[in-house]
Amino acid sequence: MSAGFLIALEGIDGSGKTTQAKLLVKWLRGRGFDAYYTYEPTRGIFGRILRSMAYKRGVDPRMEALLFAADRLQHLEHVIEPLLARGLIVVSDRYLHSSLAYQSVTTGDQGWVEELNRFARRPDLGIYLDLGASESLSRLRKRRRSRFEDEDFLEHVRRKYLEYVDEGELIKVNAEKPVAEVFSEIALIVERALKGGR
Ligand code: TYD
Repeated sequence: MSAGFLIALEGIDGSGKTTQAKLLVKWLRGRGFDAYYTYEPTRGIFGRILRSMAYKRGVDPRMEALLFAADRLQHLEHVIEPLLARGLIVVSDRYLHSSLAYQSVTTGDQGWVEELNRFARRPDLGIYLDLGASESLSRLRKRRRSRFEDEDFLEHVRRKYLEYVDEGELIKVNAEKPVAEVFSEIALIVERALKGGR
């Protein structure tokens, strides 16, 4: 493969994206592919600002949307595009559709969020780990607190993700199942996509 392949793992908080993204990179490497794990928000300057704002109430959601979009452009320029140019498979733990889902809900203006992210290429494959908001919250409570603790909010974000599933931009996987089962579904989807069967 010469042009590289960008896979994004999406889902609401607690859906297991990080675990699955790392398993996927390992699995791909085991099959002889050059694969790389990355994530958003990044550790770059905009990502650091976003993290420093997290857990604070009252941050203007429009400012946040701008920062997520800026962080993404930086991620693309410095990490994703160079790796794709080298022919790697890049697995991103959150990417474009995180903004399209979360920021559409926080700002109430999906069109503007789409516009802000116009320069971020679509992933070659977007996998959405679907989890109910109440299950997400009970998993998060066992772990750590989240900025988005509100069940209604998470259910709204989930519905936005599901709109992109309906439009064919994301492929849905049921994330309520055990890790290994979720992973075998993901592996099947990726295998098919790499063979060009998407
Ligand atoms: P973080 O704890 O770093 O990631 P995760 O919860 O996935 O392990 O927090 C990321 C938070 O930022 C998460 O609640 C979703 C949110 N987010 C957006 O709202 N928009 C975005 O574009 C991205 C990338 C993340």
